[in-house]
Amino acid sequence: MYRFFKPILFLLSPEKAHGITMRFLIFARYIPSVQFILRKLFVLEDVRLEKNILGLHFKNPVGLAAGFDKDAKYIAALTDLGFGFIEIGTVTPVAQSGNEQPRLFRLPESEALINRMGFNNGGVEAMVGRLKKLKKRQIIIGGNIGKNKITPNETAYLDYEKCFLALFPYVDYFVVNVSSPNTPDLRALQDKAPLNFLLAHVQSLNNQQEKPKPVFLKIAPDLNTAQLDDILDIVASNKLAGIVATNTTISREKLKESADTIKNIGAGGVSGKPLSEVSTEVIRYLRQNTRQKNLIIIGAGGIASGDDVLEKLNAGADLIQIYTGLIYEGPGLAKAINKKILNTQP
Ligand code: FNR
Repeated sequence: MYRFFKPILFLLSPEKAHGITMRFLIFARYIPSVQFILRKLFVLEDVRLEKNILGLHFKNPVGLAAGFDKDAKYIAALTDLGFGFIEIGTVTPVAQSGNEQPRLFRLPESEALINRMGFNNGGVEAMVGRLKKLKKRQIIIGGNIGKNKITPNETAYLDYEKCFLALFPYVDYFVVNVSSPNTPDLRALQDKAPLNFLLAHVQSLNNQQEKPKPVFLKIAPDLNTAQLDDILDIVASNKLAGIVATNTTISREKLKESADTIKNIGAGGVSGKPLSEVSTEVIRYLRQNTRQKNLIIIGAGGIASGDDVLEKLNAGADLIQIYTGLIYEGPGLAKAINKKILNTQP
């Protein structure tokens, strides 16, 4: 069915297509028969897909990556697409409009996207307002937190603090995002000293809560092994639950489009197929060199099929997330992946 809709959606700008699709899904929820059909089409439930990790019950290991539902507007609708978990955000303390449009580009030959959204979001209080109104929650929700563009790195920890405390009662796990290429200097927070300071601060807030929640760090794929070693040390010493690997890449190496096309698009992070191999290699390195026995790795980057997922799981991921694959493969992707996982089980 997506084969029919895709060419129409691809006539629209990527942001418009995203908005229309999501509005359709929300509308569909009001018509029980349509919702029933959507769930039949897209949801696969099987006990063999279920995973208990960090005290959380995942109905399946396929999650929606951060950035798709930046403001927690679509949680109920996205539940009908068969995900095991949804990561909302990145959210910042204060609403911000992000970079000027156009800021999201399709690269169909490469099955990739380039985005320089710049953490456009409605701010953490608006997000909390929506989460409070969610009726029955049927899915694991991760809260991906960041800093506002105008906040200098020196006081960034206070932005993470605000988002962490505001979201604490409403999400199941947290992701500290220091790896978006579209907020100036954000990725400098991946350096040893600032990263250690930030994660120690977040974990001290976490440990003051009656029941602390799992905290993950989301990293870029553009780090060398020495940097990954530092990250593994810091993640272990601050007793984080795990790592989300990876965010988008600043590399243009694997793109098939012409140099002119790529130059005209300009700055931003590449997601989709060209990211697949490098993110898998990061996952493999993290798994082989972890300082923690129980490090949880959420793998993301270029997943467009069940086979791509098996590669990530074989490299050491415990759970996986998708974003760009949904744009190219359509809303049946989570189910197709889960089917593949089932078929490979003994
Ligand atoms: C993203 N991604 C992202 N990540 C994050 O931590 N916070 C964010 O706000 C966003 N925003 C965002 C917007 C858009 C348009 C895209 C395409 C991606 C990164 C995303 O969560 C994921 O890590 C990468 O896209 C790699 O996965 P895929 O897309 O190759 O499956």
